[in-house]
Amino acid sequence: MQYEAQAYAKINLSLEVLGKRADGFHDLVSIMQTVSVCDDLTFAPAEEVTFTCSQPELTRPSNLVVRAANLLRQVGGVSAGCSIHLEKHIPHAAGLGGGSSDAAATLRSLVTLWALTVPNDTLCRLAAQLGSDVPFFLQQGTALVEGRGERVTPLPDPPTCWYLLAKPPIQVPTAEIFARLQRTDWSNGARTHALGSRLRQGGQVQFGPNSLQDPLFSAYPLAQDCFERMSQVSEGRAAVSGSGPTIVGWFSSQDEARQAARRLEDNQLALFVASSVEAHGRKQPCA
Ligand code: C5P
Repeated sequence: MQYEAQAYAKINLSLEVLGKRADGFHDLVSIMQTVSVCDDLTFAPAEEVTFTCSQPELTRPSNLVVRAANLLRQVGGVSAGCSIHLEKHIPHAAGLGGGSSDAAATLRSLVTLWALTVPNDTLCRLAAQLGSDVPFFLQQGTALVEGRGERVTPLPDPPTCWYLLAKPPIQVPTAEIFARLQRTDWSNGARTHALGSRLRQGGQVQFGPNSLQDPLFSAYPLAQDCFERMSQVSEGRAAVSGSGPTIVGWFSSQDEARQAARRLEDNQLALFVASSVEAHGRKQPCA
C-alpha cells in the first residue's frame, strides 16, 4: 500500500521579532498562511527508513524528512520502516518553509501508515524538536505563531486569496538573517496581534510588518529589487516571506495574479501564482 501527501509552502502575512532569548533563538509573533505551492511525498512500507528525493543535493540523512521519520519511529517504538520519496517543487532556502512542511507531512503520514496513536501535544513537541516552523505545518491554514514558533493558535480561514510569489536567484540561510537583526528591528507584536484580531472578525487579509526585511535587504540587494518591482504590480503592499528572499504580492483574483506574473517575467525570477490553502483536518492548537 502506498500513501501520498502534499506538503504546502507557507508565507508570513506578518512577522515581528520581539527579542533574543537565552537559547540563541528569537521570540516572535507571526501570522502564517499555507499556499498552494507544494512538495509531493510518497510513503511505502519497508523494513528500514529509506529516502530518495528529486533533488540529489537534498538526498542526505540529515534531511528533515529522515529526521522526522526516525524520531517518530523511536518515540512510537515502531519496528517497521518506510521508503519515502520527496518530489521537490518548493524552492529551497527561500523563506517558504519547504523543509519544515516536508517534516510535518512526514510526521502526519507516518502516524497513519504505522497506525500510531499519538496525542496532539506529543506531535507538537516532536515537531518543535525538528524546527521552529514545523508545529505550524501540522495544521496548516492560517494561524498565529508565537514563542520560537512552537505556540500555534489556529485562525479562521479567510476567503480564498491569490498570491504571486517571486523568488530571486539566491538562497538565503535563515540563521544568517536572524544573526543580522539589530535591536532596532525588534517590535512589540502589536501590529501582528491587530491583524490576528481582524482575521478573527472575518476581515480581509493584509500584510503586516516583517522584522527580517531590513536585515535581508541590506545583505541581499536582489531581494530589495524584487520587492520594489512587486510593489509596482501588486494590488496591496508587497511582503517578504519569512527570512526571504521570496517576495509576495496579494491579488483579489487568479487572473490579476497571472497578469502581474507576466509583467514581472524575466530570466531571473522564479514565479508562482498560488492560492491560500485551508487547515488540514480539525483545528488543534500547539500550546
Ligand atoms: O528552527 P530552525 O532550525 O528552522 O531555525 C533556523 C535558524 O533560524 C536558527 O538556527 C536560528 O538561528 C534562527 N531562528 C531564530 N529564532 C526563531 C527561529 C529561527 O533565531 N524563532
